[in-house]
Amino acid sequence: MAQPAGTLLVSICLFHNLFSLEKEDYPPTVDYIIRKSETEEGECVFPFSYRNEIFYDCVNFNAKHKWCSLNKTFQGYWKYCSFSDYAQCSFPFWFRNMIYWDCTEDGEVFGKKWCSLTPNFNKDQIWKYCN
Ligand SMILES: *[C@@H]1O[C@H](CO)[C@@H](O)[C@H](O)[C@H]1NC(C)=O
Repeated sequence: MAQPAGTLLVSICLFHNLFSLEKEDYPPTVDYIIRKSETEEGECVFPFSYRNEIFYDCVNFNAKHKWCSLNKTFQGYWKYCSFSDYAQCSFPFWFRNMIYWDCTEDGEVFGKKWCSLTPNFNKDQIWKYCN
């Protein structure tokens, strides 16, 4: 009896996720950080790494509010982001063959201003809309 490849793939993924959840003891979920109290008087550190991912701005996951890590690698110190905590544009930044010292509409389909969060947009492609 042949099993469709898709089913097999999904099974492998499920198995892998369950396995890595069990294996990962630090820090397992966003619930974990909520249980640890917020450190209000810290500074967000960008980029920070959390669960093997790199984040360049405050993050949302399942928590109601966005939060950030206060260490380059998350170690249980965190806080909710207020307006001033969000990642700042990185000026100047390099986009295509130009250097930008301000937010730009260049390359944006809807003509909304954006900026890079790292000095080299061509390489990192990390950005946000400007307010
Ligand atoms: C992580 O950040 C917190 C808050 O700023 C600080 O108190 C702590 O010492 C930092 N940990 C390390 C290892 O730097």
